[in-house]
Amino acid sequence: MSAAREHFGSRLGFILAAAGSAVGIGNLVAFPVAATKSGGGAFLLIYALFVVFICLPVMMAELALGRRTDKDPVGAYRELSGGSKLWHIPGWLALITPFMIAVFYLVVTVWVLGYLVATLTGNLDMLATEAYFGQFINSPTVFAYLVVLMLIINGILALGVKDGIERAAKTLMPMLFVMLLGLVVFVLTQENAMLGVQYYLIPDFSKLTPEVLSKAMAQAFFSLSLGMGILITYGSYMKAHQSVPGSAKVVALTDTLVAFTAGLLILPTIFHFNPQIDPTELSDSSAGMIFLFLPKIFLAMQDNIGYFGASAFAAVFFFLVLVAAITSLVSIIEVPVATLRDERGMERRKAIYTIGAIQIVLAIFCAVSFGMVQWFTEFVTLAGANKSFFDLVEIIFYDTILPLNGLLVCLFVIYRWKKSNFDKELQDGDPSFAGSFSQRYINFALGTFIPVILLLIFINTVALKFF
Ligand code: PFF
Repeated sequence: MSAAREHFGSRLGFILAAAGSAVGIGNLVAFPVAATKSGGGAFLLIYALFVVFICLPVMMAELALGRRTDKDPVGAYRELSGGSKLWHIPGWLALITPFMIAVFYLVVTVWVLGYLVATLTGNLDMLATEAYFGQFINSPTVFAYLVVLMLIINGILALGVKDGIERAAKTLMPMLFVMLLGLVVFVLTQENAMLGVQYYLIPDFSKLTPEVLSKAMAQAFFSLSLGMGILITYGSYMKAHQSVPGSAKVVALTDTLVAFTAGLLILPTIFHFNPQIDPTELSDSSAGMIFLFLPKIFLAMQDNIGYFGASAFAAVFFFLVLVAAITSLVSIIEVPVATLRDERGMERRKAIYTIGAIQIVLAIFCAVSFGMVQWFTEFVTLAGANKSFFDLVEIIFYDTILPLNGLLVCLFVIYRWKKSNFDKELQDGDPSFAGSFSQRYINFALGTFIPVILLLIFINTVALKFF
């Protein structure tokens, strides 16, 4: 059997690690763009309501499952399944989903690393050209960067929960906050910045269509790292008697504040150089934003702050995104590592090598999906369109299975594990929670409308993406 389970050393350590997981590319780029295109302040308001009333209860459910059982997702579901084999399925899904999401997220992070290096070596002008992105992602250099990235992530994981994950979070997260604030302060002092702030914040409620609501919900869910087994795993590393509701609130708040603040960086940056821009025409894709659009804007900054200044600004931005992505990847790859340790009794390093080896192969399949290898580029036809291997992984695991996993967590906690046990877990470390309005709300919501909402999102995605 494996050695005694490691735990985070402090409450702050847990909070920073979980916030490190939650704060990712989704916060820094996808959120500001979605908010701007979908009603500004109106979107922000709806998003905040979704975080508080829908995502937070799910987050508490996942953390409670982990802390109760001290196990990885597969073990956690099995232990509380009451012997029903059917309830083992969500445990397996909560293992495969993070495993596969990590694969495509690794590839995007590799590109960020490549852009950071290119910026640091004085090549911002090259990044800003139309053709560069296509050339870069189809060059063999990406494989070298993939290896470097895997070494960084696996190096952190190999040091263990406290000395690896927690220490990395304690170093990297404060750095991330400082870099983000530094960039925001700089940008806000620039000409036309306030136009961007206005566009970002002024609410337009007419934009809140059912699609926008579903997009906001999916974004909040993904941003908080729900449905990926991560919070079950991190919950299992929480110290005994650390309040689940209290910690969950701080993590959700931090994640949302970072996403909000990222908007104060991205929009003013765009408006500073294009005061006439119509943001509704911005690309929906985060990759398009990071790798095609923003480099041009960064380069244009040279008129004000010189080429060196513009490169420095761009470098801090890419480094910020890289740090956010690395702490997210650490958390997501820890899920299969924890499973191999808990379920197979495998030693940590061996588990890391095993997972790392399979993920590198799958990540290569994703990386060559953009033209390098035809077979992976035109992997399947879905809903009448050609999809690459990369697209397929994203569609199946991120778009589709994520809400399904969320739905299963709710049903499991309320109807299988049972409310009374869940309540006990939430009260441990937070006695004031007993009988509170929050407690009654969480029990009710998790057993009724939250699973219904997640089911609707799931059905809608299946219908849209597969048929
Ligand atoms: N919360 C992360 C984000 O917004 O980017 C979600 C995530 C993605 C976590 C990928 C972990 C991960 F590997």
